[in-house]
Amino acid sequence: MADMMWAGRFSKKIDDTVNAFNSSIAFDGRMYRHDIQGSIAHATMLGDCGIITKEDSLQIIDGLKGILSDIDSGKLELDPSAEDIHMFIEAELTKRLGDVGKRLHTSRSRNDQVAVDIRLYLRDEIQEIHDLVKKLAVTLVNMAEQHTETIMPGYTHLQRAQPVTFAHHLMAYVFMFLRDLERLQDVSKRMNYCPLGSGALAGTTYCTNRKQTAELLGFTAPMANSLDGVSDRDFCVELNCALSLIMTHLSRFSEEIIMWCSWEFKFVELDDAFATGSSIMPQKKNPDITELIRGKTGRVNGDLITLLSMLKGLPLAYNKDMQEDKEAIFDAVDNVKLCVKTFIPMISTMKVLKENMRNAAARGFINATDCADYLVKKGMPFRDAYKITGTLVAQCIEKGLTLETLPLDDYKAMTELFDNDVYQAINLETCVRERKSEGGPSPEAVKVQIEIAKKSLDI
Ligand code: ARG
Repeated sequence: MADMMWAGRFSKKIDDTVNAFNSSIAFDGRMYRHDIQGSIAHATMLGDCGIITKEDSLQIIDGLKGILSDIDSGKLELDPSAEDIHMFIEAELTKRLGDVGKRLHTSRSRNDQVAVDIRLYLRDEIQEIHDLVKKLAVTLVNMAEQHTETIMPGYTHLQRAQPVTFAHHLMAYVFMFLRDLERLQDVSKRMNYCPLGSGALAGTTYCTNRKQTAELLGFTAPMANSLDGVSDRDFCVELNCALSLIMTHLSRFSEEIIMWCSWEFKFVELDDAFATGSSIMPQKKNPDITELIRGKTGRVNGDLITLLSMLKGLPLAYNKDMQEDKEAIFDAVDNVKLCVKTFIPMISTMKVLKENMRNAAARGFINATDCADYLVKKGMPFRDAYKITGTLVAQCIEKGLTLETLPLDDYKAMTELFDNDVYQAINLETCVRERKSEGGPSPEAVKVQIEIAKKSLDI
């Protein structure tokens, strides 16, 4: 095992078990690009400010670029016994450049280094997740356009309630995902301040230029306080919150798809490439993807609790507890990407069984509100109309009829306000078409929603 960089203070080598326990390279190794990017900015600034010579700065930058391309190409493998990615790259630089490499860490600590690395890393990840969620929203908008006339039952308490359309239902999710996109942008904006130059915790005695490193790395500005610079992990929590909400939306949608795939509903059928079979029951076609998404939501929420619990009660400034941030937030990021990536082709290849949706909408008296509204429009107070309709529904249940098949005489027995036109008023197509209030399910109202979403998605 290589000597530790901090070996000077110690008279013994670190115990192997402790080194394995302490080491984070197994999970922070994935930040090697961002670590090098941060170091290049730091070395540039050190050279420009005359803290190290220009020649040394250029040599260091060159050396770092060499390490980057060697790791990228697989020529250089990460050493699993290294303490972390920061130490590994610095040690490799010194191996390549000798004394010059040892100058890189002037006026810097791993505490501001790791804080900058995670921000750079997550900034890229947020962009990727943003693109994926956007793609999902676009997919759903495209599907919605095909289904503005596809009538299905809308539910409350999982009881058939009032008629909606499949497009209306899909658009509800689109608006959730649009808010998720905004939340990601918001986190990204607040996170985009540069901790580099905070040093270990108390800044530095060198005459550094923090604005320059912040600019080189694409940050809005340097973080204003060095203690905060090395201690802040709010952005990990905020991002995990945003990710938990994406998963919550995906999970609710997944639960519906699971129900819709059942024989009890049969509203949709998954493409064979996006479903799985059973090892014993030959007839089975299982919606595993959606169940896994529902399950992984718990895991992403767990990551959020890990972060909050890790930070709670931590004194300023850096504490090693904070090394635990990475596995949690990386796990959340990885799983959200995986879920969205799998969900998109699954939903876009899913067969929508319109007839079954329509048949389900025809049962369960989901036009009862419309029947009451018919009487209200003829002058009856709503509460009275509600009561009469309730009685009619009870009669239908007793006689095994629907409101559509109940004879006019039975209607008229309740009130003379009923006439033949009641059948037109409670017809499902009419019920949907007339629900044209802003945000409602009528094809006309849903088309407005589609336009709003398209504008926001820039499509
Ligand atoms: N691997 C460490 C982490 O992820 C890097 C910072 C170490 N700093 C320290 N003072 N030991 O947090």
